[in-house]
Amino acid sequence: MHAGLFLLLLALCSGGASENSASLKIQAFAGETAVLPCSISLQNDNPTVEWSKEGLKPDTAFLYRDGCETYEIKNPAFRFRTNLFLEEMKNGNISLRISNLQLSDAGTYICTLVQRMPLEVR
Ligand SMILES: *[C@@H]1O[C@H](CO)[C@@H](O)[C@H](O)[C@H]1NC(C)=O
Repeated sequence: MHAGLFLLLLALCSGGASENSASLKIQAFAGETAVLPCSISLQNDNPTVEWSKEGLKPDTAFLYRDGCETYEIKNPAFRFRTNLFLEEMKNGNISLRISNLQLSDAGTYICTLVQRMPLEVR
């Protein structure tokens, strides 16, 4: 049984080709785990994936860069609660999992993707 406290999450997935852009409403209960879906077409093995939450300061809910999660930049509100499905990333699945949902997690989440070419010249 649920306590009846549910929240609404909106996932904006704009990574990759524009035809993949999608926004999805997810309804979940406080205390549960939600998955914000996002699929992209990966162009290299080392993308930077950022999930940010609209209105949050700092707005980073999850940042994946240089092959690992960058904890320092993530908003403390999401500490230990957000992750990607790393084994799915190679398939372009960069969905975000948020566990132990809080009512304050309700809102809009935006996924942005930076694809660098592997041999970028600086
Ligand atoms: C992405 O991975 C998650 C976890 O395995 C899965 O639940 C979800 O369906 C996957 N999404 C796509 C589009 O494959």
